[in-house]
Amino acid sequence: MINRFENYPLKKHHTFGLDVTAKYFFEYASLEELLQILVDPLLQTHDCLLLGGGSNLLFLGDYKGVVLHSAIMGMEVIETNARSVVVKVGAGVEWDALVEWSVRNNFGGIENLSWIPGDVGAAPVQNIGAYGVEFKDVFVKAEGVYLASGEPFSIDHAACDFAYRDSIFKNELKNKVVLTFVYLRLDKSPRFLLDYGNVREAVEMLGEPSLRNVRQCIVDIRRQKLPDPGVFGNAGSFFKNPMVDVSVLSAVQADFPEVPFYTMPESGRVKIPAGWLIEKAGWKGQSLGNAAVHKNQALVLINKGHATGREILTLAEAIEADIRYKFNITLQREVNVVE
Ligand code: EPU
Repeated sequence: MINRFENYPLKKHHTFGLDVTAKYFFEYASLEELLQILVDPLLQTHDCLLLGGGSNLLFLGDYKGVVLHSAIMGMEVIETNARSVVVKVGAGVEWDALVEWSVRNNFGGIENLSWIPGDVGAAPVQNIGAYGVEFKDVFVKAEGVYLASGEPFSIDHAACDFAYRDSIFKNELKNKVVLTFVYLRLDKSPRFLLDYGNVREAVEMLGEPSLRNVRQCIVDIRRQKLPDPGVFGNAGSFFKNPMVDVSVLSAVQADFPEVPFYTMPESGRVKIPAGWLIEKAGWKGQSLGNAAVHKNQALVLINKGHATGREILTLAEAIEADIRYKFNITLQREVNVVE
């Protein structure tokens, strides 16, 4: 059934938990319902926002257009061979429900991506990643429709231009397609990827590596570092880790020889953790109005209670200016600001 609402509260539909509304909010549970919505005259006269779990959005105020929200559900094995399965998943499925399902069925590949908020339909857009795994590592293809025409749309891995927290859906196809189903390939004989940080050590404390143990350990690490959006609204990492030339790293090393960095083999550039830069600049745990930098992970900005989107943006801009001044590095936002 299509749900249509006017002046609809978005507080529960995005993880910053801001008190904002959508002028119109349409929710569909199937491709057929989505196609009916796409011919609604309101879509000709209003802007449109595709909203998944809202885990990567910062609303600066009430949204004056039409919010489209997928409630297309379902997880189904559609292909199987000796080594792997292909799973078709509805865009409205909660990402972590998919991870839990895959672990329960002993399908490996996404256990390191446990406890990431958001819906499956948004995972390819952002190319979500954590603990040495990125969404692109399991992606096969996605289906959907063109927003303007309702024509069917299908895209394979190569065409998605996946990169670090980036894909064609944030660029050429931004606001042009609505994804309905995503197809993933998962392993029947899981290969455990435990080399990030202290993951191996933490998994071994729980016993033999197993999908269940890896999931448990990732959830525990995330719980320690990241604030629960139910308590302090947040959108995970607010900034991307900046990719810089080696000369920029050398300049930082001159003052801080201990700066952590990762070399990017393809480009020869280096990635410096933004959380480290923000902490070194003195922002960790600091507040500006009702917005704050999380005390356990400086990459995460939080809503302390009744923050507005503008307050959070003001904090983000202050941090960006300070990091530019202190390190000559420009931070890019991972979070999308919605006017
Ligand atoms: N660090 C600090 N201070 C901080 C935070 C981090 O010094 O306040 C240092 C850590 O000590 C470590 C390095 O920065 O040396 C990396 O920290 P961490 O392992 O916590 O990861 P991150 O680079 O800060 C990235 C992702 C996270 C993901 C983790 C684990 C980005 C923008 N963020 O964070 O993703 O969970 O790695 O893989 O790439 C998200 O995208 O929303 C997100 C949470």
